[in-house]
Amino acid sequence: MKFFVDTADIADIRSLAETGLLDGVTTNPTLIAKSGRKILDVIAEICAVVPGPVSAEVAATDYDGIMREAKVLRAIAANVTIKVPLTPDGLRACKALSSDGAMVNVTLCFSAAQALLAAKAGATFISPFVGRLDDIGYDGMELISDIVQIYDNYPALTTEVLVASVRNPMHVIAAAKIGAHVATLPPAVLRSLYAHPLTDKGLATFMADWAKTGQTIA
Ligand code: E4P
Repeated sequence: MKFFVDTADIADIRSLAETGLLDGVTTNPTLIAKSGRKILDVIAEICAVVPGPVSAEVAATDYDGIMREAKVLRAIAANVTIKVPLTPDGLRACKALSSDGAMVNVTLCFSAAQALLAAKAGATFISPFVGRLDDIGYDGMELISDIVQIYDNYPALTTEVLVASVRNPMHVIAAAKIGAHVATLPPAVLRSLYAHPLTDKGLATFMADWAKTGQTIA
């Protein structure tokens, strides 16, 4: 399973990239606003740090506007992935952009029918939002399961399921058990995957016992 980080905070991205386990980055207008920076600058900086796909979301909602903005975003770097909303205009743009060789992430997916349309439009990634579905009393992970099953039925579809709106490590484990291709995680959730109290306790014991030996490894 690939791990993307869902943030526009360059300091967080740099430190997570150093782990060697970061496969890509997703941003959205809310995250860009939170960064307080200009989208073109921040996306260029992220692309220089992370060689994998970096999703930059268009702000236009009409086809012509999406295509205009996509041209500007694509010019930033080869690893920019154009993020478009799951609307008729967004999917029309997805079809045109993917046919032209661009990577496209279709965002704001909340149903299996929407995911099927995105795959037919040639999306590189479909982003179903599990946390936001859970928030309103639906089972976000059931949607992931449905989409993976549907895509598996049609091997010609190459769209990857990018689990978005992830809130906790259990979302990550559930998505991995289903076989989703990618999860995009807030930095805190990505860091929490390392944590287990028995790891900390065991390491403290090993270090204390090692100190008693008076040895060094050199
Ligand atoms: C995905 O690409 C979105 O940027 C993100 O996962 C949305 O998450 P949220 O529901 O926590 O805002």
